[in-house]
Amino acid sequence: MNPVIPPGGHISGARLAILLGSWRQGGSRQGATDLAAAIELQVLDGQLPLGTRLPAERELAEVLGISRTLIGGALDRLREDGLVASRRGSGSWIASPGRGGVSAALPEDSDLIDFARAAPAAAAGLVQAVDVARRQLVDHLGGHGYGEYGLLELRERIALRYTARGLPTTPSQVMITNGAHHAFMLALRMFTGPGDRVLVEQPGYPNALEAIRAAHGIAVPIALDPLGGQGWDITGIEAALRQSAPRLSYSVVDFQNPTGLRLDVEGREHLGAVLTRTRTPVVIDETLVELDLEGDPVDGPPPLAAFAGELTVTIGSASKSHWGGLRIGWMRASEDILGRMISARYAIDLGSPVFEQLVMAELLDDPGPSLARRREELRVQRDALVGAVKWYCPDWTFAEPAGGLSLWCRLPEPMSTKLAVAAANHGVQIAPGSRFGVHGGFERWLRLPYGLPADRLFEAVRRLSVAAASVRGVDPATPSGFPVPVT
Ligand SMILES: Cc1ncc(COP(=O)(O)O)c(C=O)c1O
Repeated sequence: MNPVIPPGGHISGARLAILLGSWRQGGSRQGATDLAAAIELQVLDGQLPLGTRLPAERELAEVLGISRTLIGGALDRLREDGLVASRRGSGSWIASPGRGGVSAALPEDSDLIDFARAAPAAAAGLVQAVDVARRQLVDHLGGHGYGEYGLLELRERIALRYTARGLPTTPSQVMITNGAHHAFMLALRMFTGPGDRVLVEQPGYPNALEAIRAAHGIAVPIALDPLGGQGWDITGIEAALRQSAPRLSYSVVDFQNPTGLRLDVEGREHLGAVLTRTRTPVVIDETLVELDLEGDPVDGPPPLAAFAGELTVTIGSASKSHWGGLRIGWMRASEDILGRMISARYAIDLGSPVFEQLVMAELLDDPGPSLARRREELRVQRDALVGAVKWYCPDWTFAEPAGGLSLWCRLPEPMSTKLAVAAANHGVQIAPGSRFGVHGGFERWLRLPYGLPADRLFEAVRRLSVAAASVRGVDPATPSGFPVPVT
């Protein structure tokens, strides 16, 4: 019987090679198994959605530098597991979202820990805010419910927060979006066209890189130094801005994802001046700014927009401060830019949901207590993760972040992709370092998020240490229990 091809995109051989990173785990006899496991990992990780058409065997053999026999062997395995289907003349495609294979190898009683996402559970007070919003919704039901800028009461509260942080803002400079990612997509749409360059930090937030690819832009990476100094080489950024003249620049200067780095006030002044001098439009992504684990952001460095010119678009989000499930974010820019952004938005959507905006407005009515609690929880989780990594993986190094949601760990050898494959067999899903690079790489690096409760973090790191030992072919020298309770 001929399998039906589900609708889906096509992935090029070059792109798949980047996603796969250094997938080979052992000698050549293991090649087909390793390649099949690496492809399955990308399916589990959502990088190869159902229906995605795989490159032709010949193309894949060429970009990976291996024989077609080996590719054929890997595809045979994936077909046996039902993960891939093929039809003569139509090639091969992903036929299942990946239930079997690596996860099937887990013991019955094991539970998969999602260590790939840097996103905490809902903040305290969310249910109460929903109750208040439910009563307030009645006042809105007589209207049409469309509002491209968003509800005034929410925009007022967001404007107040910017003003308190040192960036005077009026509600007319704020537009509500469906998350920060949506805001970035809108900015890309307004500022860039196919083939345009966008300057990004490297390592950087993978979905931003995906968005640039989807907009047919070209991401130009600027290296961050995760372990020393202030991270951003602003003189290097100025040189890159002059040489590559990007249409847009994208930066996460508050607890950068994945490094956790934060740019200090002096750095902001310098970067702001460089962006203004070169007249580069910039998106500053402040999704993580409220997760300051050493104090209230109101006392921290002012938003970068306070130092950069009119071409600055600041994007923010409820996702990390309150909950990703609200899908509420925003954009702060000049009235002129926002007006043009609205025009760009009509082609995509016609506004954000009223109910979720009411919930967020309620959460921001008196944001102090719930944000303080959020920070306290994350401080405990960060310290737990730091303790667990030092205990179970003493040869991994990292700089302890002052905020945000993740540790960016340097591994003792280049093994991030192999570790991700092995970790799935030990019940932990992780995002390999290659996800954070424009052209892959980062095999010596791994992002460990601390969005989970402390006991899950310990267990995840314990499993990772066992997986790492299997990749390195050494005995797991991991101690069996965590010695002291970590607060
Ligand atoms: C830097 C950064 N920007 C944007 C997002 C996505 O934000 P949202 O859920 O508001 O779309 C994330 C989520 O992890 C992030 O880390």
